[in-house]
Order: sequence, then structure tokens, then C-alpha cells
Amino acid sequence: MKILITYYSRTGVNESVCKSLQSKLDCDIEPIIDTKNRKGLWGLLICGFDATFKKMSKIGAIEKDPGNYDLVIVSTPIWAGTITPAIRTYVFENKDKFKKVAFVSVSGSGEENKKVLPDFESLANKKVITSLLLRRWAVRKGTHQEKVESFVKEILSQDKEIK
Ligand SMILES: Cc1cc2nc3c(=O)[nH]c(=O)nc-3n(C[C@H](O)[C@H](O)[C@H](O)COP(=O)(O)O)c2cc1C
Repeated sequence: MKILITYYSRTGVNESVCKSLQSKLDCDIEPIIDTKNRKGLWGLLICGFDATFKKMSKIGAIEKDPGNYDLVIVSTPIWAGTITPAIRTYVFENKDKFKKVAFVSVSGSGEENKKVLPDFESLANKKVITSLLLRRWAVRKGTHQEKVESFVKEILSQDKEIK
């Protein structure tokens, strides 16, 4: 099964989890670049504002065509109770190319943010095959590994189904 991981990460936590997933799944990975300046206090306020109003953001050109993959794993922080503007744009622009999607998020509240899945699924126009929602502090402490392992196992079991 050909797998692509795409992620947006402002402060590097989603990125670190995605890189570890990449090495476990031995797959391709691509960061999504938000072209909007989100640095500093003003940048933070804009992040919250844009997310609250479910705004999209202009993203940098993507190099990997999601249509070439059996599964795309999309990872995002949660801002103001929802997915980030860059990921909203990526999913909206590529929804017709996704064959299967899985959802990953490292955020302040982890599992509690499962409530964002209906919005994500309606944007992607399909149900996620599985999801991994982690708390930022758990990743920092390294206590998230068990959840990562069971997510990887679930993805690999899909691999058998596709073959
Ligand atoms: C503007 C803003 C709003 C946020 N809102 C939420 C939220 O509503 N719920 C939550 O669980 N985490 C929230 N967070 C925390 C981020 O989701 C968390 O720090 C995440 O791990 C950042 O990921 P990154 O390092 O990949 O950018 C917010 C962070 C920012 C900057």
C-alpha cells in the first residue's frame, strides 16, 4: 500500500510525530506550508481568528500528488476547536484525489478533539479509516508511544485488506 503523510505544523509537534510515523510506515511525507505570517502575538491572534471562522489559507505548491497514494494520512494541530486553515485548504483542494484518509492530530486536548472529525470528513468527502489524537504534553513526555503503535498496527492491517 502506498502511503503519504501530509502535515501542517506551526511549532513542530505534529511534525515530530509525523516523522516518527513515516519511519515506522516507511512511506512518503510532505509538509503543507501556510503562506500567511503566523509569527508573534499578532500571528497567534490571527491563527485563532482564522480557525474560528473556518477560513482557508493560501498554501505553498505541493510536490506529491495525493492521487498517487492508496492512503493519505493528514496531520494538523487544533486551533480554536477546529483544524488549521492550511489543512482546511489542502483537504478541500485535494478531496477528489483521496482514495482513503486517516487523521492525526497533536493538540492541547488530544482525544477530546475527536469532535473535529465530522467537519474533517465532510471536507474530505469521506470517512477516515482511523485516527490518532495525542496530547502535546504526552508527546513531550514520551508517553504517547502506545497509541502510536496501535495506530501503526491499524494502518498496516488496512494494507492487508487493500492487497
Ligand atoms: C491559536 C491557537 C489555538 C489553539 N486552540 C486549541 C484548541 O482549541 N484545542 C486544543 O486542544 N489545542 C489548541 N491549541 C494548541 C495546539 O493545538 C497545540 O499546541 C499543537 O500541539 C501545536 O502543534 P504544532 O506544534 O504541530 O504546531 C491552540 C494553539 C494555538 C496556537
